[in-house]
Amino acid sequence: MDFQSVLDTIAQDALSMQDKGQVATYIPELAKIDIGKFGICLIDNKNDIFSAGDTDEGFSIQSISKVLILAKAFQLIGDDLWKRVNVEPSGDPFNHLSLLEQENGVPRNPLINAGAIVVCDVLVSKLKNPKKDFLQFVRDVAGDHTINYDTSVAQSEKRTGFKNFAAAYMIKSYKNLENEVNEVLDLYFSICSLALSCRQLVHVFYLFMNHGKCLQNKNHLTVNQVKRINAIMLTCGFYDEAGEFAFEVGLPGKSGVGGGIVAVLPNKYCVATWSPGLNKKGNSKLGMLALEQLTTKTGLSIF
Ligand code: DON
Repeated sequence: MDFQSVLDTIAQDALSMQDKGQVATYIPELAKIDIGKFGICLIDNKNDIFSAGDTDEGFSIQSISKVLILAKAFQLIGDDLWKRVNVEPSGDPFNHLSLLEQENGVPRNPLINAGAIVVCDVLVSKLKNPKKDFLQFVRDVAGDHTINYDTSVAQSEKRTGFKNFAAAYMIKSYKNLENEVNEVLDLYFSICSLALSCRQLVHVFYLFMNHGKCLQNKNHLTVNQVKRINAIMLTCGFYDEAGEFAFEVGLPGKSGVGGGIVAVLPNKYCVATWSPGLNKKGNSKLGMLALEQLTTKTGLSIF
């Protein structure tokens, strides 16, 4: 498969698109990002890397990190996790609160904000230094010790993340939060601020195309844990657009409001895109189009 020429065509098409969506502004730091950025990077099962566009510039991965905290929490407490958070698609935007109250403080899935807050609570309970230990986990998986949080993005969201405070207090009121709201959200805002390039993202998510083994050949998750996390990405990774992503692209994946998307075809490849303009559902507009083109042009999706 000539991935390089497919990625070159996709990048060219993306750069010529007039309507790139809208950059997220509800986190003030993210409003500063240049909407003209576009990158796509793919690693295949022979560890060959193909890329086009801005693939070495770090950006805020935001909700993409929800998959990584899920992996760490699953590694730490196994199936007990599912007593605290469900695995059903919500069909709702990522920050909605209504289902949370109807369902007694048990979030629909770990990839919406409320679910990730519960997963952060698990990490705060189980890790000695939650921020430091989680960062170390991401660095180990990527084999890259330059990866870091962007504290200005974390601070910016802390000042404006009122809905996340509301979700955390609601969860706490139903006794599904063991730790203090401020401590849990401090971790949540930090993990959302992780800054990675498309190239670093495919290094990290390689794990999910390779049955839990990272590029350094170390096992971080079991085959069954990866099966479950990929299923959650497929059904819940794009909120109220999860069906659309499965329909258009046909891969388990995850988006973030920083404009990143990462997706995997188990045994075959892992791909990351970055284009900061979002569609109305909060997913990268050109990223979705690029991945639709990738799976359509190559015929390589899970279907
Ligand atoms: O909590 C928030 O709203 C952001 N830190 C993350 C949201 C996000 O990335 C949703 N993804 N598309």
